[in-house]
Amino acid sequence: MDALGVQLGCALSAAAVVYLTGELGAGKTTLVRGVLRGLGFTGRVRSPTYTLMEGYEFPGRVFHHLDLYRIHDAGELEFLGVRELDAADRWVFVEWPERGVSELPPPDLELKFELRDPGRRIGLSARSEQGRKLAETWRTLVKTATAPGLAGLD
Ligand SMILES: Nc1ncnc2c1ncn2[C@@H]1O[C@H](COP(=O)(O)OP(=O)(O)OP(=O)(O)O)[C@@H](O)[C@H]1O
Ligand SMILES: [Mg+2]
Repeated sequence: MDALGVQLGCALSAAAVVYLTGELGAGKTTLVRGVLRGLGFTGRVRSPTYTLMEGYEFPGRVFHHLDLYRIHDAGELEFLGVRELDAADRWVFVEWPERGVSELPPPDLELKFELRDPGRRIGLSARSEQGRKLAETWRTLVKTATAPGLAGLD
């Protein structure tokens, strides 16, 4: 999942809002960690489980990684300023988006993680024109992923 994330990150250029859904331990954080590596980030990538949001600065663009697992009411998100996460100039990757959907920018792309025995499955669903372009690029990578334990993909 990490290796696949790196490939996806290398193929990520335009700004995008990506929702990552799937059960606990499905590999969402692991994939985002890879994406950040693919974008060239070399520091430590922490899961935003407790902080809710982590930010990473890249030349000309900021990457926001959110994990809303601990949110019970979308109103709790107001203080994070997620409404200001204008998709036009940012990357916004959200784990557990269903917990805060009314406060979040709408997704361009949704990645659905499913645990399989063995491995995982990732389904891509484009939610905007921009997301459709990204899905086209990413689908090929996801299909050819050779990460250990990674099963078939949509
Ligand atoms: N092929 C794989 N891809 C990703 N993770 C794997 C794989 N095989 C085993 N794992 C393990 O599964 C766990 C995935 O955890 P991760 O934190 O990425 O999940 P998550 O979807 O972010 O969960 P949460 O909803 O709790 O945030 C890691 O401990 C990782 O080592
Ligand atoms: Mg996680």
